[in-house]
Amino acid sequence: MCGIVAYIGEKQAYPIVLNGLKRLEYRGYDSAGVAVLKNGNINTYKKEGKVSNLEDFVKDKDITGGIAIGHTRWATHGPPNDVNAHPHTSENGNVTLVHNGIIENYDSIRKELESKGYTFKSDTDTEVLCYLISDIKTNTGVKLGKAIRLALQQVVGAYAIVVMCEDEPHKIIVARKSSPLVVGIGKENDFYVASDATPIVEYTKQVVYLNDDEIAVLNKEKGMKLYNIDEVQKEPYVEELELHLEALEKGGYEHFMLKEIHEQPTSIQDCFRGRLNAKEGWVSLGGIKYYLNRIMNADRVVMVACGTSWHACLVGEYLFEDLARINVEVEYASEFRYRNPIINENDIVLAISQSGETADTLAALELAKSRGATILGICNVVGSSISRLTDAGSYTHAGPEIGVASTKAFTAQVTVLTIMAISLARRKGKLNEAKFRSILSSLEAIPKKVQAVLDKTEKIKKIAEKYKDAANALYLGRGSSFPVALEGALKLKEISYIHAEGYPAAEMKHGPIALIDEEMPVFVIATKGTSYEKVVSNIQEVKARKGKIVAIVTDGDEQVKAIADDIIEIPETNEHLVPLIATIPLQILSYYIAVMRGCNVDQPRNLAKSVTVE
Ligand code: M6R
Repeated sequence: MCGIVAYIGEKQAYPIVLNGLKRLEYRGYDSAGVAVLKNGNINTYKKEGKVSNLEDFVKDKDITGGIAIGHTRWATHGPPNDVNAHPHTSENGNVTLVHNGIIENYDSIRKELESKGYTFKSDTDTEVLCYLISDIKTNTGVKLGKAIRLALQQVVGAYAIVVMCEDEPHKIIVARKSSPLVVGIGKENDFYVASDATPIVEYTKQVVYLNDDEIAVLNKEKGMKLYNIDEVQKEPYVEELELHLEALEKGGYEHFMLKEIHEQPTSIQDCFRGRLNAKEGWVSLGGIKYYLNRIMNADRVVMVACGTSWHACLVGEYLFEDLARINVEVEYASEFRYRNPIINENDIVLAISQSGETADTLAALELAKSRGATILGICNVVGSSISRLTDAGSYTHAGPEIGVASTKAFTAQVTVLTIMAISLARRKGKLNEAKFRSILSSLEAIPKKVQAVLDKTEKIKKIAEKYKDAANALYLGRGSSFPVALEGALKLKEISYIHAEGYPAAEMKHGPIALIDEEMPVFVIATKGTSYEKVVSNIQEVKARKGKIVAIVTDGDEQVKAIADDIIEIPETNEHLVPLIATIPLQILSYYIAVMRGCNVDQPRNLAKSVTVE
């Protein structure tokens, strides 16, 4: 949700900022802009659309200089156009800034500034903040840092900002509240700033993650100084990045999404590496080991998340309840946070988030914390806000996920939830030794089975060809395959723009069945297990109404094969682990359908990878 990049130092700043914007484009691609400070003058260039538009636009301009700030936008206030693009500049041209977040009280501040005679050019909340800083600086004569601090004290909302000023040309100032910001420390008093570490890693591995209400002054000559909002100086906590550059490249694949789908045998393996061993019969999640008793004795575990991560929570609910007999409730973070939920000290609130930055999920955790609950997290991005806010948690170790549609993060989240559920079940005595070892060895076998599905890509591609022109699609599943159906539908709609809905298979007859005709493809997870016969009956109901069935079945299935229009066979596994495999063909189907429809799979319209505003 908007990406920010900045550089200050002896190198040419623009190429670094442009490169960074390309890395952060997954956060928003409505417009891009850059401002370069040279010899006390700031020049700003901005363009609607992708970073490549900006790149073309500045080709014949002088963009040399050692300080630059850049922005790639996911529009919140005002349409995506050149004027609303960041950076924004104060009316007197002195202060320029980029911003990620939302200034909620921007309207009242804007009116106050208008009453002083200011005229705004854009519709954005960001321009208002920029004018406010400049107004304070001009009217009180304070330096930029003080003006920013005073302005931020008036602001309600979320922000990560980078500010520069013609009057004080040796520095940039950064600040954060509820939106992420990382500072990379270069070797020669040069600094790299970004919304996440991906634009920074190729230059330095030394980073400081800013905390809420922190402001840092990055000075070419004097280095970095960190303050809290009350101007008290703090010691920056420098961390070493574990990220590798290759993980941020497409590695020969046409799209990041395809690469990430194909990485799943490895990402699942990485996720359970060092956390379980079937032969030796142990399982351990270091990050939460001191919290297992608390989880076991909790009144309930409330899982909160958004989008795909919410689907992972639903799978987690089946696993925790069935294996460990622990009471779980799954909540959309956005609803939970505003519903005045009943939470007490004996509750565990577990947030799941790939990015670890989703605003609603973060706010749900803050609410739970304020009411005394223990808050835990499952995140992919190391050092993210959620991972830092929670009492404890586990990383998914899936590696950077750049495609906006989540794939490998989902299977990694489900893997962590499975390991958690098994640990808890074992500790509670709900799994005997034989069952415990059997599920562990089934889990260890998952990467190979996922690979076996990936090896069927050509067959799945042919099925995609058959259904690529559908206007609608239904996805059905029962038990823990119901969230897989929801996830399949979300994948299809978000990247191919085909309207798709997921339902518990048995719910179909309570309404959605009215939609079925010969034009409607119905994707059904019909693997062998407890509800198999029931799902077969649901398939018959669809066929009786001339719907087209594409079924995900267990290898060797004959019954569904006889009635379905198309089948995709997946290897047999322990029933609790089916979501980890059944998800894969649905991801591949969605990917190829979207590609065949000419859609931009890595950057679908209107979406952003990391939703840091509510
Ligand atoms: O980073 P998070 O896991 O918290 O993100 C949650 C959702 O925004 C995300 O899963 C979204 O639904 C994806 N576009 C799904 O592919």
